Amino acid sequence: MKLLVTGGAGFIGSALIRLAITRGHHIVNVDKLTYAANLDSLRDVAGHPHYDFVKADICDLDAMKAILAAHQPDAIIHLAAESHVDRSIDGPGAFIQTNIVGTFTLLQAARDFWAGLRGARRDRFRFHHVSTDEVYGDLSADDPPFSETTPYDPSSPYSASKAASDHLVRAWARTYGLPILLTNCSNNYGPYQFPEKLIPVVILKALHGDTIPVYGKGENVRDWLYVDDHADALLRVLDKGAPGETYNIGGNNERTNLALVETICDLMGQHLPPGGKDFRRLIRFVTDRPGHDHRYAIDAAKIEDALGWSPSMSADEGFDRTVRWYLDNDWWWRPLIREGAFGDRLGLKR
Ligand SMILES: NC(=O)c1ccc[n+]([C@@H]2O[C@H](COP(=O)([O-])OP(=O)(O)OC[C@H]3O[C@@H](n4cnc5c(N)ncnc54)[C@H](O)[C@@H]3O)[C@@H](O)[C@H]2O)c1
Repeated sequence: MKLLVTGGAGFIGSALIRLAITRGHHIVNVDKLTYAANLDSLRDVAGHPHYDFVKADICDLDAMKAILAAHQPDAIIHLAAESHVDRSIDGPGAFIQTNIVGTFTLLQAARDFWAGLRGARRDRFRFHHVSTDEVYGDLSADDPPFSETTPYDPSSPYSASKAASDHLVRAWARTYGLPILLTNCSNNYGPYQFPEKLIPVVILKALHGDTIPVYGKGENVRDWLYVDDHADALLRVLDKGAPGETYNIGGNNERTNLALVETICDLMGQHLPPGGKDFRRLIRFVTDRPGHDHRYAIDAAKIEDALGWSPSMSADEGFDRTVRWYLDNDWWWRPLIREGAFGDRLGLKR
C-alpha cells in the first residue's frame, strides 16, 4: 500500500515508517519539521526507493490537497501533532492550531480526495487518526482501565486538543461517510524519542550526572508500550480494522513514575562502567505539573480479540533496549543538546 504518514519525522511516525518500509509499503512522509522532528531518525530509509518526504504544514489546505493529488495514497495515517504536555501548559496555542485546526484541514483535504476515488481504491481508502489514552482523563487506583466507550474527560491543553481532533474525525465519518480508523494508545517509549520526554530525560540527566526531576511524589501511574509494538498495532489496525471503529492500544505495563525512573536508573548503573553505580541518588521530587492526571490504564481487549494483536516486547527487554540505544547512539541526541532545543529546557550540561 501507499501510505501518507503525517508527522513521520517524529518519534512514533519514524518508527512506523521504518517498520512499514520493511513490510513493503510505499511511504509519503508529510512533516512540517517542528522542533520535535528529526530526519536523522529516518537515516536508514531516506534513500529507499519506496520513501518520499514532503515538508509541509497540515494546516495548509492547498498543500494537503496538492500532496494527495500528486501521491495518490491508499491510506493516510495521521500522527502530526504537538505532543508534549508541559509545552501545552506553557503555550497552548500551537496545540489548538496543529492538533485541532490541522486535523480539520487534513480531514477536508482527505474528504475531497476520497470523493474523487472510484471502485476498489475508494473502498480501500482509510483515514487513520492516531490518538492518545489521555483523552479519557484521570483514573484512581481502583477504577477499571479505559475502554473504547469510556467518556472523554481530558485534563491538559494537549489532551483536550487531541480529544477535539478525535471528535472531528468521528464527525467526518458520521456526517460525510469518510472511512476512518481511530486508535488511542498509552505512553510510548523506545529509541529515537526526543530528549524532553520522561525516559530520555532520565537517561541523559543520569549520564550527565545531573539531578533527575520527578513530579510530585512520583506516584502517577502510566501504562508503557514499546514504540515498535505501537507501530505494529497501527499497521494491524490499518490492515484489519473495521472502518469507523476505535481501538485502544496498551502495553499491559502499568507502573508509577517513580518505579519507572528507578528502573531506568538501575539499568544505567548496570550498563555504565564501572557497573553498580547508584543513579537513584540523583532523583529529586519537584513541584507537580498542574492538572497532572493520577493514572492512565488501557483495556486492550478489543484489539486483542478482534484483530489478534498484543504487544510482543516485554517491559524488561524494552527498557533495557532503550537505555542501551541511548548509550550507543549519542550521534543522534548529542546535536540536539548542542543546538539547545532541548538542552536549555532540560538544563543539561552541553
Ligand atoms: N508519544 C506518546 O507516548 C504517544 C502516545 C499516544 C499517542 N500519541 C500520538 O501519536 C502522535 C505522534 O506522537 P509522537 O510522540 O511521535 O510526537 P512527536 O512530537 O515526536 O512528533 C510529532 C511530529 O509531527 C510533526 N508536526 C507537528 N506539527 C505539524 C504540522 N502542523 N504539520 C506537519 N507536521 C507537524 C513534527 O514536526 C514531528 O515530526 C501524536 O498524534 C500523539 O498525540 C503519542
